[in-house]
Amino acid sequence: MRKLGRNEPCWCGSGKKYKACHCAFDNKLEGYFYQGALVPPREIIKNQEQIQAIRDSAKINIAVLDYVSRNIRAGITTEQIDRWVYEKTTQCGAIPAPLHYEGFPKSVCTSINEEVCHGIPSDHVVLKEGDIINVDVSTNYKGYFSDSSRMFCIGQVSPEKKRLVDITKESIQVGLEQVKPWGFLGDMGQAIHDFARKNGYSVVREIGGHGIGLEFHEEPWVSYVSKKGTEMMMVPGMIFTIEPMINMGTDEIFVDRENGWTIYTADAMPSAQWEIQVLVTEEGYEILSY
Ligand code: MF3
Ligand code: CO
Repeated sequence: MRKLGRNEPCWCGSGKKYKACHCAFDNKLEGYFYQGALVPPREIIKNQEQIQAIRDSAKINIAVLDYVSRNIRAGITTEQIDRWVYEKTTQCGAIPAPLHYEGFPKSVCTSINEEVCHGIPSDHVVLKEGDIINVDVSTNYKGYFSDSSRMFCIGQVSPEKKRLVDITKESIQVGLEQVKPWGFLGDMGQAIHDFARKNGYSVVREIGGHGIGLEFHEEPWVSYVSKKGTEMMMVPGMIFTIEPMINMGTDEIFVDRENGWTIYTADAMPSAQWEIQVLVTEEGYEILSY
């Protein structure tokens, strides 16, 4: 990395002089680097202007999920959810990020019961009493990305499924408590994994969260079975998702052979997922979308 002069403009694009911006940050990070920490690349450190633009995107993301929350019920199809997400997102001047993303055919992921994630909305899938469903909304507003997902219980669901949904939601809070600058993503990953296991559940290993903001999926890849003190260091200006997939039975999964997208649990037991998007701040964290 080229050393910047103290009076040169900062590499983050803030327009401020380096000495008044990321100079102290770089010195601190360099110290950790020489101690062997995996430090984040500059491309994923956001400046204040970018953070504000991502907050604006996240507001739309939340509004779309709120709309789904108010309207989801037994008897509708997942195709209907897709239409709501497309319409609400575009009405706000944004684009649903999943649409045509690496060939994904729809505007949202809808994953029911034993579907772990990346369920594809369809005319043929009707929500019925007792289902649990994850609705995963990702938003591109003026080129800035946000991503979050929620679980919905359709009518009366079994106590076992309800508990899975609730514990998975609680696991996000448990993970969040570990999010602070100069800590490690593994601190968060292990906290979630330990919490899920303590409650009798398993955590999906192969699929994780991701950095986000300037792209839909950025570095780092975020595991929820990682170990304390490992993985990338969390630093102010970093944005990533916390989105563990927690299974009632085995952690083993497989991919739908026909559509190439949808992930299922190997034992057909239910899986739940909640997703939030967080910014690491000087003090701790800020939740951008949920
Ligand atoms: N929100 C999902 C994720 O980050 C989106 C997956 S890509 C899609 O994992 F094309 F399936 F939407
Ligand atoms: Co995501």
